[in-house]
Amino acid sequence: MKVLVATEKPFAKQAVDGIRKIIEDAGLELVLLEKYKEQADFVKAVADVDAVIIRSDIASREVLEAGKNLKIVVRAGAGYDNIDLDAASERKVVAMNTPGQNANAVAELAFGMMLFQVRNHYDGSSGFELKGKTLGLHAYGFVGKCVGRIAKGFGMDVYAYDPFLTPAMIEVDGVKAVESVEELYSKCQYISLHIPATKDTKGSINFNLLSKMPQGATLVNTARKEVIDEASLIKVFEERKDFRYVSDIAPDNAPIIGEKFPGRFYFTAKKMGAQTEEANINAGLAAARQIVGFLQKGDKTFQVNKF
Ligand code: 3PG
Repeated sequence: MKVLVATEKPFAKQAVDGIRKIIEDAGLELVLLEKYKEQADFVKAVADVDAVIIRSDIASREVLEAGKNLKIVVRAGAGYDNIDLDAASERKVVAMNTPGQNANAVAELAFGMMLFQVRNHYDGSSGFELKGKTLGLHAYGFVGKCVGRIAKGFGMDVYAYDPFLTPAMIEVDGVKAVESVEELYSKCQYISLHIPATKDTKGSINFNLLSKMPQGATLVNTARKEVIDEASLIKVFEERKDFRYVSDIAPDNAPIIGEKFPGRFYFTAKKMGAQTEEANINAGLAAARQIVGFLQKGDKTFQVNKF
């Protein structure tokens, strides 16, 4: 049986070596498709494989239908909004993610971007410190928890909102739980987004929420650009001179922001929250193990679709 690793943004070499070992030790064959240029290359490569490991690569209906032998697709990472789950379920293809495996890398980048912004892009001018500032974690999953842990080291006052957790599950970590998303935005100068991109969350970070933030508002996005209502973003930038936005991947209206609000934003050139050797190894090897566990023992832990 064949396992395809389809990564437009390749894993670090050590991760690929580890994935290969797990796959080959299990008697499976590894097929590598890295840095591909066209979605058609992915569609072609999936034709005769049994399993696929992807990152932010698009496992579209076309891909899932082209994989005639496909039994499982594993997103080596957290967000699986790049997998067409309906198409996967219709084709009886198991879809999985590898929750938590790249969380620390993403959390460290959130701080890297925050520091870069509060120190004025290291231009030599006087900036601000994070110590003593309020930080709101919008969702308290694996990444939110890591950001909270680091924030406490910086001496920040950390709050979190997560509709899927009880206050006790948040407060056990020394993080203050708030009752509503509005309360989180009203209390916190810094908001770090850790919500997935779903039909309910897309466009949900809007003017109503952002305008509630106290003076010195900075929005930190290591989640997905789609959760932001971009018209609201522009409006907040226009109405609040104190507002800053740092994001791991540029919004669609980045050219407008770049032109109108210089110095008040930072966007990575390419999504790079999980782009560390450690995260690649953690998530890549977990994906390979999950594929072996499923193909050889039927283990469906971490399945995210139903059929
Ligand atoms: C995730 O959802 O795990 C992150 O966005 C990482 O995406 P990447 O694997 O494309 O870097």
